[in-house]
Amino acid sequence: MDNFPVVAQADASLPNHTQENIHLVESAVGSNSPPKEKVGSDFDSRMMLRCLELARRALGRTSPNPLVGAVIVKDGEIVGEGFHPRAGEPHAEVFALKAAGDRARGATIYVSLEPCNHYGRTPPCSEGLIEAGVAKVVVGMVDPNPLVAGGGIARLRAAGIEVLVGVEESACCQLNEAFIHRILYKRPLGILKYAMTLDGKIATTSGHSAWVTSQEARNEVHQLRAGCDAIIVGGNTVRQDNPYLTSHQVEAHNPLRVVMSRHLNLPESAHLWQTADAPTLVLTQEGANPDFQKLLLKQGVEVVELTSLTPDKAMAYLYERGFCSVLWECGGTLAASAIAQGAVQKVLAFIAPKIIGGSIAPTPVGDLGFTTMTEALSLERVRWRVVGSDCLVEGYFPQKANSQ
Ligand SMILES: NC(=O)c1ccc[n+]([C@@H]2O[C@H](COP(=O)([O-])OP(=O)(O)OC[C@H]3O[C@@H](n4cnc5c(N)ncnc54)[C@H](OP(=O)(O)O)[C@@H]3O)[C@@H](O)[C@H]2O)c1
Ligand SMILES: [Zn+2]
Repeated sequence: MDNFPVVAQADASLPNHTQENIHLVESAVGSNSPPKEKVGSDFDSRMMLRCLELARRALGRTSPNPLVGAVIVKDGEIVGEGFHPRAGEPHAEVFALKAAGDRARGATIYVSLEPCNHYGRTPPCSEGLIEAGVAKVVVGMVDPNPLVAGGGIARLRAAGIEVLVGVEESACCQLNEAFIHRILYKRPLGILKYAMTLDGKIATTSGHSAWVTSQEARNEVHQLRAGCDAIIVGGNTVRQDNPYLTSHQVEAHNPLRVVMSRHLNLPESAHLWQTADAPTLVLTQEGANPDFQKLLLKQGVEVVELTSLTPDKAMAYLYERGFCSVLWECGGTLAASAIAQGAVQKVLAFIAPKIIGGSIAPTPVGDLGFTTMTEALSLERVRWRVVGSDCLVEGYFPQKANSQ
């Protein structure tokens, strides 16, 4: 149990403000904490939810940046809206100010994340708002980055602008949970998703697994993929299932499809090697099967050799690439290894009301080395709902601060 970083306590080696921010964000997102007092009016809530609706238009496209929406209201009417479309492009506030023009003077701006106060690829939004003469700024959540948190709000207040913070805070944190995780832990948020039968099997004894769940549940998975930056499977899943791993929607974002394979003993032809629909990256070990690497490169598949091919190294690499969220859609062997290394924070289990049996049929999580039930990893913030004819159980591993 000692070697399971996901269940350890908060890390005392982190600076206090980082710890505080982790608690702040977790208490905002967490359903285990007592309900917070409502901030702002019903109208404020409606406008903030509109910001989140706008923010979602860029789902899956903004990493390493967050999803942000902004709405400008003058005399009770919306006069400008905007959202952050992708990293490198202007922030939500800039689009909303542009749409509002002169009407921004004396208006109230709603923005789901604290306006930035630093020169990045774009000038600070705090200065833009001051210049535009807005009278009030309503903020959904503070910036989770401990180095900038509160800076934008302080700058606005110093300029005499009224600032209200925390309207629909938990909805704002939920939408950007992956971005928050990336900032606080310097890793993408790892989400393990699997579909199993009521008797806990993810495939038959022969390895056949299409399909465990209903069409509705599969549609939900497609939605989920559209909001993620990458999906990981292992070599066996490619050999057994030949999956597409796309979001199957014309307009939706397709995440990077990642295969982890040590020896590259993979089929020469596979749906994942067709890169016109979505990009594919194969992560492997140094010197693995050079001929097969050439074959992949010819088909537009990216190949990266890691010194040791482990879930943590894969996540560290994907963090460096600017990713916020990674969906583990692998089988039980790789899933167990990912959990053991702390590469999974959230679990989404689709459970189909059917029984397949089979004493050696694969299960969602392989060996974790536990021998007593007291060692079981308990999820928190657990929710469940019915999707089509299936049940979706969702929860989080207790999180510790990551000091890497
Ligand atoms: N129902 C579901 O939700 C679902 C989802 C996915 C898969 N499945 C089923 O799961 C079965 C495959 O299970 P699996 O556990 O073998 O899945 P897997 O997703 O293929 O993972 C195992 C493979 O990952 C690769 N790998 C690379 N680094 C690894 C590491 N550090 N630790 C462990 N593995 C590493 C290896 O590939 P190489 O051998 O190429 O080196 C290994 O064979 C199939 O029958 C498939 O149908 C079901
Ligand atoms: Zn900004």
